[in-house]
Amino acid sequence: MVLYGMTQELATCVNYRNLRHRVDEMGDPALSRLLGYIMVDERCHHDFYKRVAQLYLEQDRAGTLEELRCVVQTFAMPALHMLADSRQRVAELKALHIYDEDIFFRDVLRPLLDALGVKWSEFRQRNPQRKS
Ligand SMILES: [Fe+2]
Repeated sequence: MVLYGMTQELATCVNYRNLRHRVDEMGDPALSRLLGYIMVDERCHHDFYKRVAQLYLEQDRAGTLEELRCVVQTFAMPALHMLADSRQRVAELKALHIYDEDIFFRDVLRPLLDALGVKWSEFRQRNPQRKS
């Protein structure tokens, strides 16, 4: 849950950042400011989980990385399915390009691994002793 929280909170921060960019294109300074506050809040949540994850890495690097691989491989943003008229709303959200798999890889996963001191080559290397 900590590793999911760490990932999800950063993804949420990125999501609000990109939404804020769209709002700025349309010119709504009050909403832009509000989104800026939310972004910072989400970033703080991420930072808490990241600090706990760093402790896990110190105690069990291989196990923590294996769990993180599992989180990343199954990661999905929460609550999308809860939107009214879900399919249409999800399609509208996707059309805004505020969050997608490429953004996840570039703005969430890679910076996250960098912050944890995990090289991409190490992250991609599955531990052969663990089965899942
Ligand atoms: Fe949060």
